[in-house]
Amino acid sequence: MGGNMDGVTVINHPLVQHKLTIMRKKETSTAGFRRLLREISTLLCYEVTRDLDLTVERIETPLAEIDAPVLEGKKLVFASILRAGNGLLEGMLDLVPSARVAHVGVYRDHETLEAIEYYFKAPEDVSNRLVIVVDPMLATGNSSIASIDKLKERGAHNIRFLCLLAAPEGIRNFHAAHPDVPIYTASIDSHLNEKGYIVPGLGDAGDRMYGTK
Ligand code: URA
Repeated sequence: MGGNMDGVTVINHPLVQHKLTIMRKKETSTAGFRRLLREISTLLCYEVTRDLDLTVERIETPLAEIDAPVLEGKKLVFASILRAGNGLLEGMLDLVPSARVAHVGVYRDHETLEAIEYYFKAPEDVSNRLVIVVDPMLATGNSSIASIDKLKERGAHNIRFLCLLAAPEGIRNFHAAHPDVPIYTASIDSHLNEKGYIVPGLGDAGDRMYGTK
């Protein structure tokens, strides 16, 4: 699956790494970026769900009756941090179509880099479900930390965080705030620049997927 250090799993599957490289290229088009994001998110979803518990269900094939494996427990919740999280969400829903979806709107104040909440809508019973929080970029960690604060206030306690790229500074902040939440990422990049962008990164993920710049 990948390297595991201090609560961070780096998903270094060759297909993930290859697609990520194309996404990083500045000349990759909006359409190309969006398609790759959808593809890569199914692969990331595959890895973040790899150890889910199974139970068995009695079924009949055309030939025999068997106890066959099915996922145990309640349906998953995918929690998208708006707006860039939605880019990861679509591919994940391709793979787990019955998942419930939460939307958390936090934006970064570009002056202070603080996370400000403007939207929150989640399924009622998040406390009984595995919640996989998605945001392509773990930069300062402020928006993901604030989003998970809100989900925990609503009772969520079984949480994983999935991103495409993480900065070491963001990982440190995130772990300090939510040591119980494991991080899954395709890459740990070098550092944050003075504007809070991940270097080398891929730029502004929202702008790149929606063509807003
Ligand atoms: N958000 C982005 O979209 N890109 C970064 O590099 C950092 C935060």
